Amino acid sequence: MCGIVGYIGTKQAYPILIKGLKRLEYRGYDSAGVAMISAGGDLNVYKAKGKVDNLIEYCGDKDVSGSIGIAHTRWATHGEPSARNAHPHYSRSHNLAIIHNGIIENYADIKTKLQANGIEFRSDTDTEVLVQLVEYIMVKKNLSLLESVQVALHQVVGAYAIAIVDKRDPCQIIAARKQSPLVVGIGENEFFLGSDASPIIDYTDKVVYLEDGNIAVIRLGEELKVISVLGEEQDLKVKTVDIDLGQIEKGGYKHFMLKEIFEQPECLKNCMRGRINVEGNHVTLSAMIDYHRQLLSAKRIVIVACGTSWHAGLIGKQLIESLCRIPCEVEYASEFRYRNPVVMKDDVVIAISQSGETADTLAAIHLAKEQGAFIYGICNAIGASIPRATDTGTYIHVGPEIGVASTKAFTGQVTVLSMLALCLAAERNTIPPELYQQIVKELTLIPGKMEQALKTNGQIENLAPIFTYARNCLYLGRGYNYPLALEGALKLKEISYIHAEGYPAAEMKHGPIALIDSEMPVFVIATRDRLYEKVISNIQEVRARGGRVTALVTEGDTQIQKFADHIITLPDTLECFQPLIASIPLQLLAYHIAVCKGKDVDRPRNLAKSVTVE
Ligand code: F6R
Repeated sequence: MCGIVGYIGTKQAYPILIKGLKRLEYRGYDSAGVAMISAGGDLNVYKAKGKVDNLIEYCGDKDVSGSIGIAHTRWATHGEPSARNAHPHYSRSHNLAIIHNGIIENYADIKTKLQANGIEFRSDTDTEVLVQLVEYIMVKKNLSLLESVQVALHQVVGAYAIAIVDKRDPCQIIAARKQSPLVVGIGENEFFLGSDASPIIDYTDKVVYLEDGNIAVIRLGEELKVISVLGEEQDLKVKTVDIDLGQIEKGGYKHFMLKEIFEQPECLKNCMRGRINVEGNHVTLSAMIDYHRQLLSAKRIVIVACGTSWHAGLIGKQLIESLCRIPCEVEYASEFRYRNPVVMKDDVVIAISQSGETADTLAAIHLAKEQGAFIYGICNAIGASIPRATDTGTYIHVGPEIGVASTKAFTGQVTVLSMLALCLAAERNTIPPELYQQIVKELTLIPGKMEQALKTNGQIENLAPIFTYARNCLYLGRGYNYPLALEGALKLKEISYIHAEGYPAAEMKHGPIALIDSEMPVFVIATRDRLYEKVISNIQEVRARGGRVTALVTEGDTQIQKFADHIITLPDTLECFQPLIASIPLQLLAYHIAVCKGKDVDRPRNLAKSVTVE
């Protein structure tokens, strides 16, 4: 996600800020910016879209002097990636500048009130709302910067890590956090700020990790002071950082893939935030409001995507057909674009893509658009080519995915498809209100159940060495779990280079059963649902041929252990959400097998994170 850097001391801030931004590049971002207060008292803000190098180039002929500054790399959440929306943001008077990570959920209400008081906005961000609010309070109530920040933070709902400077007081940075990390580094007569310790560790190993709800008052020549939003002084817990850079970037995990697997409960909360109400019984998608007619008049939905996103689409098809009773087809974008498909005016085409840059998916969109379809995008990278080419859409908001094997994007895509299907079903009256509410409620419980599923990590790590010998593996599932069998197999192939196939469990006897012997690990998703008994029969068919079965079962299951060599137990959920839970052990399995085989998990051979060529 976004990255924060700050410096106040006796050295020039700009080189430290730029080096810090480069350190944060691993997080992924779409724009960057810096603000310094010069010796002459000017607050200079410079911003550029794209890489930090673009910012450096832009700053080439600018006044970058000053020994106090803040800097930011942005991953867009509100407003497209552009220099205009990049941070830092000035206040109206240009006296203040702010950088911010997180999301201010009630920004629209605050913005409306500020606009009613004559404040004009220069960006589409929630962040600018915060700096304007701080200044508004400062002027209206004649308060100091610190007091105004305290008052403002009482009014905002959401997550934030912020740093704010005032050109009239070039010896101070005010920083605060809630649910978004922030670290202050303490040097000799200088302080550093970072969204993690990576921009700081070159200069000092003494850091203070701000706690939720705390504000840091960073003043040159004084001790660091940490207070609560209510103004109570907090004990300073100075820690010594003793970790290498790679570790910080990966949040202490050995690989980005593992970090991203473990991030999923949080990612799904972000994905649902502001879309499912606090009571957990109603879903609203802004696309559904803005394009109500187009989406409701769909006679057919066609999903186009590639790879993992295509697997999410297969789950989406089942959700859309069963909840909304709209016929839905799922197409490989690469096939769709070249096979002269029938596209009708009342078709809605849903394009799913994590990167938002996949060339085949983009071409499929252009083709469908030319033929008059309405295009809905489900993407992660804000402002990428695909969201720009679609008529509307919904971002999955799971943050940058760095591991090449897609994990959190998959569950984010399935979550958005679930919310979309629920919105359409409610509008079309295709499910009873009680069932609608039950499904929405269950969706809000998924992050907690994912936490539980993540507890299988140790068991799976122990199991993994058993499978490293395998040259082939089979993944079986039925119903909603069939696409997950495909996804489990794809994960294993990608990072461990073991050949694997996913199959609908009952289809196995029409061919692949011939492959089964005691050397062939078979992973079966056998969670409790309508087809549970049938899946048990499929497991018995495998066992009868000497196959080695590892089954994913629902807690409380007593039957399957009789037939399986290993069982992995998962929390119960509705059938349609089982892939969200069961994807976790399958991701972990692929991960640990690949690690045991000594493979480069985050950068598997021959693969690229963004496939911009056909
Ligand atoms: C698998 C994987 C790929 C992508 C595919 C589509 O782990 O990452 O199969 O899912 O290349 O990419 P996006 O979703 O960016 O369009």
